[in-house]
Amino acid sequence: MLTEPLDKWRQGGSLQVNLPQENGMDRNEALSLVKKHVKNKNLVKHMLAVEAVMGALARRLGEDEDAWRLAGLVHDLDYDETVKTPERHGLVSASILDELGYPQAVVQAVKSHNPALGVERKSSMDKALYAADPVTGLVIAAALIHPEKKLSAIDGGFVLKRFGEKHFARGADRDQIKACTELGMDLDEFVDISVRAMQDISGDLGL
Ligand SMILES: [Fe+2]
Repeated sequence: MLTEPLDKWRQGGSLQVNLPQENGMDRNEALSLVKKHVKNKNLVKHMLAVEAVMGALARRLGEDEDAWRLAGLVHDLDYDETVKTPERHGLVSASILDELGYPQAVVQAVKSHNPALGVERKSSMDKALYAADPVTGLVIAAALIHPEKKLSAIDGGFVLKRFGEKHFARGADRDQIKACTELGMDLDEFVDISVRAMQDISGDLGL
């Protein structure tokens, strides 16, 4: 099965994560929070990947990069706590973040990234997080099937070919990724930006 490498990567817990150096107070706090709640190192890597993609999207769209990165970094905070109750995924995180005084825009984006909740995605940040979440899985799966198994060996075109293979990395919801068009960005550009953003932190992702 072509999905196996991604599943293995996600389940693996033995790889070391070197979290990037913090730039400011908010990220410091967010990292501590992530480390406290998320024990699976590859899930932390997934959150770092979404953080990087969100930062690149904010730069491209002229939005608040710090806030967008923050939303990406903390978006799956409650994953462990809601793994058996996916209908609560996002709600628990939102409640924790709200209590800690995180910006409401971030709280809202985290809440609305889980389609199962049916929370309307209103802001550009909401829409970006919704599409950035699954694209990171697709990019990682694409890197893992490349003979070099490295992010540096692939590009947007390579990932787009995989996008069209419906049995490949089925967990990476194609409709959700295609929602990037709601940001006024076509799929090609969105995938390209995502690949580049993840290549920039390939060391942290171990790929
Ligand atoms: Fe996620």
